[in-house]
Amino acid sequence: MKVYLGCDHGGLNIKNAIIEYLKENGMDYTDFGCYTDESVDYPVYAYKVATAVADDNTSLGILCCGTGIGISMAANKVKGIRAAVCTNEFMAEMTRRHNNSNIIALGGRIIDEPTAVKLADIFLNTEFEGDRHTKRVDMITAIENGTFEV
Ligand code: RB5
Repeated sequence: MKVYLGCDHGGLNIKNAIIEYLKENGMDYTDFGCYTDESVDYPVYAYKVATAVADDNTSLGILCCGTGIGISMAANKVKGIRAAVCTNEFMAEMTRRHNNSNIIALGGRIIDEPTAVKLADIFLNTEFEGDRHTKRVDMITAIENGTFEV
């Protein structure tokens, strides 16, 4: 499974820690930047990762900014993306099991590096449960497509 990563300056440290984990585990990844702590605009990196993930439904994405919020909001504007901000292990697990999230968004000013690596590990190694959750995720897609009817 391919993993796409991106961050702004606020998420650089945790993204780098996650990349070390991916390397140690021989995982296939592409890092779209940023690569320094110079101030940058998080929507740029959200867009790069989100479009890559949307084009490959076998892939997952990891986005990091200061809080995880802005970069997730931008990513969720790309059709087919379900990006979830996660701050603990339960969220990282459940957003895969129930929401079939395809991007996890993490905050470098919210969680430390070991926690970021742990949440990424859980996210990448947890499967969507399907069943009753499929209907709900399909409803999200219908909202996105303008076809949702209540
Ligand atoms: C950048 O200062 C900061 O606004 C950004 O990293 C992120 O936290 C936005 O949601």
